[in-house]
Amino acid sequence: MCGIFGYCNFLCEKSRREVCDTLLNGLSRLEYRGYDSAGFAVDGDIEDTLIIKQVGKVAALRKLTDDQPLDFSKPFISHCGMAHTRWATHGQPSQINSHPQRSDDKNEFVVVHNGIITNYKEIKLLLEKKGYVFESDTDTECVAKLTKYVFESHNKELNFTELVKTVVKELEGSYAFIFKSTHFPNEIVATRRGSPLLIGVKTQKKLKVDFVDVESSDNSFATVEGQDMSRPALNRSQSRAFLSEDGLPQPIEYFLASDASAIVEHTKRVLYLEDDDIAHIADGELHIHRVRRSKEDNTAPTRSIQTLEIELAEIMKGSFDHFMQKEIYEQPESVVNTMRGRVNFENHEVTLGGLRGFTHIIRRARRIIFVACGTSYHSCLATRSIFEELNQIGTQAELASDFLDREPPIFRDDVCVFVSQSGETADTILAMRYCLERGALCVGVTNTVGSSISRETHCGVHINAGPEIGVASTKAYTSQYIALVMMAIQLAQDSKSSQKRREEIIDGLYRLPSDIKEVLAIDAKLQQLAVEQLAQEKSLLILGRGYQNATCLEGALKIKEISYIHSEGIFAGELKHGPLALIDETMAVILVMTQDKYYPKVQSALQQVSARSGNPIVICNTGDENLKNHHRTIEVPKTSDCLQGLVNIIPLQLLSYHLAILKGVDVDFPRNLAKSVTVE
Ligand code: G6P
Repeated sequence: MCGIFGYCNFLCEKSRREVCDTLLNGLSRLEYRGYDSAGFAVDGDIEDTLIIKQVGKVAALRKLTDDQPLDFSKPFISHCGMAHTRWATHGQPSQINSHPQRSDDKNEFVVVHNGIITNYKEIKLLLEKKGYVFESDTDTECVAKLTKYVFESHNKELNFTELVKTVVKELEGSYAFIFKSTHFPNEIVATRRGSPLLIGVKTQKKLKVDFVDVESSDNSFATVEGQDMSRPALNRSQSRAFLSEDGLPQPIEYFLASDASAIVEHTKRVLYLEDDDIAHIADGELHIHRVRRSKEDNTAPTRSIQTLEIELAEIMKGSFDHFMQKEIYEQPESVVNTMRGRVNFENHEVTLGGLRGFTHIIRRARRIIFVACGTSYHSCLATRSIFEELNQIGTQAELASDFLDREPPIFRDDVCVFVSQSGETADTILAMRYCLERGALCVGVTNTVGSSISRETHCGVHINAGPEIGVASTKAYTSQYIALVMMAIQLAQDSKSSQKRREEIIDGLYRLPSDIKEVLAIDAKLQQLAVEQLAQEKSLLILGRGYQNATCLEGALKIKEISYIHSEGIFAGELKHGPLALIDETMAVILVMTQDKYYPKVQSALQQVSARSGNPIVICNTGDENLKNHHRTIEVPKTSDCLQGLVNIIPLQLLSYHLAILKGVDVDFPRNLAKSVTVE
């Protein structure tokens, strides 16, 4: 949901072409977050700021940039630029609504924003009364204009950090911002609350220390109305990281981004901003301040500079046509990465280091409540029953948005598990904070180290699936599923009665990579099925039962989100309570009928469908003679019942991919969607 990117070079000469290319390449990496329009701001020729914006994908912005009558060879020894790729929330995708948004037609203050300002109407009204004229429909424009207003109402005396601090104190909602201004040349200020933002640092010499001090500049300095102008003395402790040994300034580059994937090609040294941090980059130094310093502020006094563990190859498509295809094919490896160092296949034990010290609390829980959105929610549904079976603890799965709407009672002896690939989904984060406030133990299951959910929960599990770029989640689903199964096993590890069952599941986990490979090997057959039968359909029902309920929902989600064919996952037990009315010889149906204890019941669903002239395609276990001769089948290897969903989802992922290709959909960038939904 919008990607922001910033680039600052200090004493490190770059041509305008290089600066623009760095910004545009950064945007390309973040494009999965939003791709309806894009824009960037760089220095002009006369101490001004140039803004270039375009509707459509980053490629369109790149073309527009090339067409500008600019001197691209102009060198900049030091420079600060910023860029944005948008997923529209306020206002249609249009050039005027694209970011950067500006304070005025001289571009005095320009802003890029990821998030939503919920009180923007009030701010806009106030500013309109003061004579400001708005040009866009965005919530962000009010921030650019408010910045100018605050600056002027304080007689232009605030420095850039103080100014942004004063502005963001007036804002409600969620944001990650980068600010740039002609009043503060070669400076950038970035801040976040609720939306991710990290800063990459690239230097020739080693940094003195691997952390940045949070500087203490006490109290608030100013207010919008300007009554409180008493400025306490700044207690500046220049961050030790940027002190040079010989006292001479060092060349340095900074890369600010919503996501590490835009930074890793430049540097692996990054620091993650915390909510309410204000990062100020000027004269080659990065200073971190807090919006408010209060007694309750219990954030660390430093921000550590960490080393990214992702490799550039992981965020490239390689020989695949699309990220989604690559990610589907990566699953035999990504599932191993999720289990690596955690599952001991010989003595049948699971050790999740992130839960160490918390397992005894979880075992005593009154309830386990999973909270998630989209595909992540389906991984919770898929594993809920193995939690209940192994641990005998009531386990429920909640959609984060519905959970927030209901405001259900949550108690101190509840354990709440927040599952999120990105770790940044707004609804899931809000639900997490709701549960934290009520004293529940909060567990995070994410794919993103350093994300809000992994930082703010008490403990958790990283699924280690590697970066997932395709909007339609595939490998993250299988890895989340495995992470949750591992958690269920670890919690039950002391129970003798479930030992056999645990061993059977761990043996199934061992075979999983080869089971997945076996399904990937029938890809050509699935492609043929898509061409011959499914691409013509307007609607497709996916039916199953028990463990496969989640497979049906997830398969249908994949198909609808990237092929735009209407598809519904239907619990076979509910068939006769309504959905059966849809069945006739024209309705496309896929029935998931692998062999587990529900098989006879699914057989009865098959009979009900057949009796209404339906002719379903059946996903069954290899060699199921009952079905083979009577139905078009997709055969998959048999595994432990609670892991079968991991195998069964693969043909549905592949089918959705082929259907999207046949429909001419831009697979990695389906319309109206975004990978990371950081707004409610
Ligand atoms: C978006 C994505 C989905 C994802 C969902 C939850 O809708 O398109 O692929 O499942 O958000 O995201 P999360 O990062 O919390 O797993």
